[in-house]
Amino acid sequence: MTTTTAADMKAEIRALGQCFWAGEAEIARNFLTAPHEPADHVHWLRHQCYRELRGPGLLERPHSRVRWIIQNVHDKLPAAESKDGRDEFEYQLESLRQEFTHYRLLADILEDVTGEPVRMNDIDGLRLPGDDRIEAMRSRLIAEDERIAHIAYSFAEGGGAGIFHAGAALETDDPLLLRIQHACRVIYDDEVGHGEHGAEAAENALDTEEELLTLRRMLLEICPERLRMRSEMYNQEPDEARIAEIANGHIDPLPTI
Ligand SMILES: [Fe+2]
Ligand SMILES: [Fe+2]
Repeated sequence: MTTTTAADMKAEIRALGQCFWAGEAEIARNFLTAPHEPADHVHWLRHQCYRELRGPGLLERPHSRVRWIIQNVHDKLPAAESKDGRDEFEYQLESLRQEFTHYRLLADILEDVTGEPVRMNDIDGLRLPGDDRIEAMRSRLIAEDERIAHIAYSFAEGGGAGIFHAGAALETDDPLLLRIQHACRVIYDDEVGHGEHGAEAAENALDTEEELLTLRRMLLEICPERLRMRSEMYNQEPDEARIAEIANGHIDPLPTI
């Protein structure tokens, strides 16, 4: 296999990601640009609050970023002994701080909409049917090829921040939507970096045509399932015809904002 072919496939995989991230944005945009009462935002806000905490493991999750940090502290900080380790430790701490900020921005809005504190008991364990399908798929793909499945999931995690792109790009003078727009702008600017980290990790870790084909095939399973999950988050029926179009590239990539 020539280097050019591998490079082409990597570019194709990136382009595939761009389609799905635009798809996630489209679903959020459809919701955010339709007329709503403030209470209509509670469902997606609660789910996203939970995701921001659970993703890094601030709410318990096995093999999480928080677990890695705690284990390192427990083992007398081996990561602090090498240049690469220090870089990694600092990256993990900084991204943990960012994820908490994402939670805080959304939780402040949620609390003002409901007039109630955001209780961990209420949000911990919130699951959409799509989350269960994505988890079941993860187990199946890990059984098939653990390494590539992990790469595929980290590539797809966050959906390229598409929903935050949609929020940040809102044109509105509605006070609630302006707060959502501000929160989404901050989150988007952080998450784009996280997505880049995942895409680079995928590109550096995989080289053979076979591996890249496996990654592509896994993404073509995971990403449509993520679109269904996002539809559920915004109380919409997943539109299977549109999902198929998006998977086939019939969507414009997100503009730079
Ligand atoms: Fe986040
Ligand atoms: Fe993130």
